[in-house]
Amino acid sequence: MSDSSRNIQQPVIEAIEEFDQSDLDDLCEAAEEAIVDGNGFGWLKPPRRSVQESFWKGVLMVPVRELYCARLEGRIVGSGQLLKPFPNNEAGGHIAQIATFFIAPYARGHGLAIGLLSVIEKSAQEQGFKILEVDVRETQTAAISLIESSGYERWATKKNYAWNGTDYVDGYYYKKDLKDLG
Ligand SMILES: CC(C)(COP(=O)(O)OP(=O)(O)OC[C@H]1O[C@@H](n2cnc3c(N)ncnc32)[C@H](O)[C@@H]1OP(=O)(O)O)[C@@H](O)C(=O)NCCC(=O)NCCS
Repeated sequence: MSDSSRNIQQPVIEAIEEFDQSDLDDLCEAAEEAIVDGNGFGWLKPPRRSVQESFWKGVLMVPVRELYCARLEGRIVGSGQLLKPFPNNEAGGHIAQIATFFIAPYARGHGLAIGLLSVIEKSAQEQGFKILEVDVRETQTAAISLIESSGYERWATKKNYAWNGTDYVDGYYYKKDLKDLG
């Protein structure tokens, strides 16, 4: 085997519990590109790097958030979160959500989103959640295709769901039953 073939790295999805600086830099860069591309999970323009670093470090400190990252050729190129209910929410304790889900434009089309979604769903399932929810802008056509082809049911549309810097756009709410509600 030649040295170059040993260096080939497959796409990987992994749970992140702490950052080293190069992973954090890669995640910030990936998010900046996604924000500039127009889907910035709230941000319309990339925030200062220090603000974004605080945001990601904060995510790791919140017990109800699980952060998963997608790597391509060793570098983080996207992420998604499993957002679990707070412990006081006994009535809604069967429902978890997907948040902050993106792949950087330069890493799209490699199946990373399918892998990321399936790892998040598996984690939710293993922890006993019965319903997984996600919401998207009506303009996120790639995400809508991904979600609908992954078995999610659209159960509501919210008018004026998001301001995109020019217009208000509607949003679609989806859910997937992970377990029989009985
Ligand atoms: C949606 C997104 C995560 C897809 O990432 P990706 O890594 O390119 O997706 P994959 O290569 O894993 O493709 C998965 C599926 O997504 C859909 N998809 C991906 N790109 C698409 C496109 N340009 N047009 C239509 N559907 C597309 C398809 O259903 C595809 O499955 P297929 O290849 O069998 O047709 C990415 O485009 C993105 O980050 N968009 C902006 C942020 C966003 O919309 N987030 C979603 C919030 S839930």
